[in-house]
Amino acid sequence: MKTPAESKKLMRGRFVTFEGGEGSGKSTQIKMLADRLNGARLKTIVTREPGGSAGAEVIRHLVLSGMGKLLGPETESLLFAAARDDHVNQVIKPALEHGTWVLCDRFTDSTRVYQGKLGKVDPKLLRAMERVTIGDLKPDLTIILDVPVAVGLQRAIKRRGNAVADRFEEEGLGFHEKLREAYRQIATDDPVRCALIDANADAETVGSRVWKALRDHLFSSATLNEGSKA
Ligand code: TYD
Repeated sequence: MKTPAESKKLMRGRFVTFEGGEGSGKSTQIKMLADRLNGARLKTIVTREPGGSAGAEVIRHLVLSGMGKLLGPETESLLFAAARDDHVNQVIKPALEHGTWVLCDRFTDSTRVYQGKLGKVDPKLLRAMERVTIGDLKPDLTIILDVPVAVGLQRAIKRRGNAVADRFEEEGLGFHEKLREAYRQIATDDPVRCALIDANADAETVGSRVWKALRDHLFSSATLNEGSKA
C-alpha cells in the first residue's frame, strides 16, 4: 500500500523543457509533442520563458525590448529569475501537482547559457538564484534542439519577416556559435536529464526524434521499474 506522499509522486505530471538557439524550431516541436501527448490522453499544457504567467509576461516585455542590456547581465539575470519565480509558482507547480504534463519553451538552461556562458555572470550567483526560484523542481527531461548556426539564423530571419529583431537575435555570428557550443556541453554534462536532438531536418523527422527521446528517457524500463518501486 502506497503512502499519500508516494501516491502524490506517482500522480505528478512530467516536466519537459525545450532549449536551443535562434531558429532551432522549439515552438513547432513543442506544439507537435503537446498534440501527441494530449492525443494519448496525457493532459498537457505548453508554456514559455521568459513569461508564461501574468507577472512574468510583464518582465518578458521589459527584457526583450532591450532594457535588460542597459542594466547589464547580472541585473538582467535577476529579472529572468523574478519572472521564473512567478511562472513556477503560478503555473508550473500547480499543473504538475494536478497530474498535468508541462512543456516549457526555455527554462534554467537558457539562463545558464545566455547569462552565464555568454554574459559571464558568476555561476555561483546563478546557482543561488536557481535554489530560490525552482528549489528541487528539476525538469524530468530537457530536449536540446541542435542546428548549425547559419541554418538557425536563416529560419529566424524568415519567421520574423518585417518585424524588428529582438535583443538576442541581433547579436553576431560568434555569439550564436558560442551559444550552440554551450548547449551541446550541457547535453554532454547531464545525459540523464538532457537529449541532444539533431534538428537540421524537416519538422516531421525532428518530431520523430523528439518522441523517441521522450520514450527512451521517460518510459524506459528503468524508469518504469523505478515507478513501480515507488
Ligand atoms: P523568444 O522570443 O521567446 O524567442 P526564442 O525562444 O524563439 O529564441 O526569446 C527569448 C529570448 O530570451 C531568447 O533570445 C533567449 C533569452 N533568454 C535568456 O537570455 N535567458 C533566459 O533565462 C531565458 C528564459 C531566455
